[in-house]
Formats: sequence, C-alpha cells, structure tokens
Amino acid sequence: MTTNLHWHSGLISRADRTRMLGHGGATLWFTGLSGSGKSTIAVALESALARQGKLSYRLDGDNIRLGINRNLGFSAADRTENIRRVGEVSKLFADAGVIVLSSFISPYSADRALVRQLHEEADLPFLEIFVDCTLSEAERRDPKGLYKKARAGEIKNFTGIDDPYEAPHQPDIHLRSHLQTLDDEIDTILTTLQERGILAQEALPA
Ligand code: ADX
Repeated sequence: MTTNLHWHSGLISRADRTRMLGHGGATLWFTGLSGSGKSTIAVALESALARQGKLSYRLDGDNIRLGINRNLGFSAADRTENIRRVGEVSKLFADAGVIVLSSFISPYSADRALVRQLHEEADLPFLEIFVDCTLSEAERRDPKGLYKKARAGEIKNFTGIDDPYEAPHQPDIHLRSHLQTLDDEIDTILTTLQERGILAQEALPA
C-alpha cells in the first residue's frame, strides 16, 4: 500500500514557520473516560493560549467522528484506526506550527504509544495528559446521557462500562478532574508547557 511513494519536502522549514508564528508546534494529547473533562479543559486551554497570542486548534472525538472518521464505530479495531488517523492529523497540524489539543478517549495504551512515536520520529513535542476521573464521577456528570443508556444496555461497548480503559502509567501530566478546579488544571498545563520550553520560540530546532 505504501510502495512507490516518496515524501516531498517544500522550501519552507519548520524554523521558518516558527518565526512566522512566534512559537513552534506541539501535540497535547488528552486521554480519559467520556465525561472526564477532556473537551472542557481543551476549550479553556485554547482560550488561555489565544490570550498569549499562541495558535492552537482542537481535535475532538465527537467532532472528528462527525467528519473525517464518520465511517468508524467503537469496536477495538475502529478505535485503533480512529486514533491512528487523528494521530497522523495531529502530527501534520503540529508540523504546521500549531499547538494541537487532541481530546479522545484513546483507551488503548498501544494506540497512544503509536501516536507518541509518530511525533518523536518527526521531532515534534508530544505530551500525554491523563484526565483522570473516577467512573462514578463521570457517570454522575453524564453530560450526554450516554452512561445511562449504556447501563440500560442501549449502547454496547461503552468505555468504562463494558469496554476497557487502559490508564496511562507515566503520563506527562496527570490531572484529577474530580479533585481539581478547571483553573488549576489550566495552570498545571501552562506551567508544564513553560518548563518544557514548548511555548518558547528559541527552544525549537532550527
Ligand atoms: S475513542 O475510544 O475512539 O478514542 P472518541 O474519543 O473518538 O473514542 O469518541 C468518544 C465519544 O463518542 C464519547 O465521548 C461519546 O460521546 C461517544 N460514544 C458513542 N459510543 C461510545 C462508546 N461505545 N464508547 C465510548 N464513547 C462513545
């Protein structure tokens, strides 16, 4: 399938894009149960970054599954393909210089490891952010009413109910959304981005 194909490089380097934007690209990968707060945190972070003049863009499970991945369901194979595709898309956005905020349950460790590897091979920063939340709290919030349906047997293979979630062992950032405030979570992320030099133009490769 991938024979006789060659990557075409253009004349604009990553360093050129960094100069144009004032920062380099990166992928911040939010993983956690449905209802854990991934999308809420990404929305707040996008605004916080915009206030600092940083260009970020959100890729979100529900949105992506309405478009590019509308042909995928929730079997293990489809979830793996979902994450592979959005991992590749995240990498392209990050290469373009954008701070990508990717929010997907991404329940399988191996799929998340693949996305990390894709970024590392391309020399692009990748941070895994575990939005940890107890199942009972996610179920109490149930913002889309899906846990109720899953408990009633109306949705099969629902993550946390009758489908697995493999929690990260060593995430770059570990948030506990049932214990922390949203402001506190945003502060934690921004501090880590500063510490890792991700927002600093001069820290990026020439
Ligand atoms: S993933 O497992 O492939 O990473 P993704 O993040 O794209 O999932 O989509 C999760 C969203 O799809 C949930 O927030 C929820 O709104 C919806 N959804 C529908 N069916 C399921 C299911 N069986 N398991 C989990 N989420 C589901």
